Amino acid sequence: MNAATRKQFAEADHAAIYSKYRPKADPKVLERVINYLKEKKKTPLNVAVDVACGSGQGTVGLAPHFKKIIGYDISTAQINEGRRVNTVENIEYAVADAENIPLPDNSVDLVTCSQAAHWFNFNAFFREVDRILTPNGVLAVYSRGDYVLVHEDAYVAEELTKIYKECTWKTLAAYWNDPVHVTRQNGYVNLVIPYPNFERVAMESQIDLTLTNLTGFISSFTAYQRFHRDNPNDDIFTPLHARFLQALNAQTLPEETTVTTSCPIYMMIGRKPGPN
Ligand SMILES: C[S@@+](CC[C@H](N)C(=O)[O-])C[C@H]1O[C@@H](n2cnc3c(N)ncnc32)[C@H](O)[C@@H]1O
Repeated sequence: MNAATRKQFAEADHAAIYSKYRPKADPKVLERVINYLKEKKKTPLNVAVDVACGSGQGTVGLAPHFKKIIGYDISTAQINEGRRVNTVENIEYAVADAENIPLPDNSVDLVTCSQAAHWFNFNAFFREVDRILTPNGVLAVYSRGDYVLVHEDAYVAEELTKIYKECTWKTLAAYWNDPVHVTRQNGYVNLVIPYPNFERVAMESQIDLTLTNLTGFISSFTAYQRFHRDNPNDDIFTPLHARFLQALNAQTLPEETTVTTSCPIYMMIGRKPGPN
């Protein structure tokens, strides 16, 4: 990971935006992971690690299933935010690199990684995961693909999606300047978990968001953060709200107006070899 990438999520205000607007992991993703793990692991499950946890978006949903969960992230700002918002006793957060996880060999039942593996040196990350996993332990790496907006009227759905994509891909086009985003967008097809038991799982996730929360979500993108640094006085969200409201033919306020987002979820899941 280069120095510029390290700085991506380093700022406290970005971490605060992140924790306010980034969705938690879809429960059906975590259910799939836990069921896969339990196929070969006896309960109670001991330790889970969520690598590059941000402020806990994929960490919190693990809490009911394990004695202890540790969320690691390279960004101190994200970890501070995770600790600030945490209400769950069996979760801890700590600063660590995905490529250097401060845990003993064979000590972890599950490693998850949500929305982040595209930033890593994946081979070095996998070596660490393989070292810390217990036999039959599981690694699950997942990410959302690009959003579309859905609506019962296909014409409105198309209009809403067009407005969303114009903002995220045209207005911010020059700011998606990391090759890593290609890896995420392509659904991790160029990454592999080198265990004999390895699967790719595709799902769809739908979430209802107010327009304010939808543009808040856009404001959490690294591309938007860079755009905003270069154009601090440029308010792109007020006109965006107006366009969405017009497409919906709604007279309501952005914070009262709900749209439905849909995106693919790409997951890679693999089991470390162990006894049957
Ligand atoms: C897009 S955020 C994902 C956060 C959260 N997991 C989620 O699902 O929303 C990517 C996170 O990866 C972290 N990150 C990037 N490279 C990392 C690395 N090599 N080791 C640990 N964390 C890393 C960043 O600090 C950031 O918090």
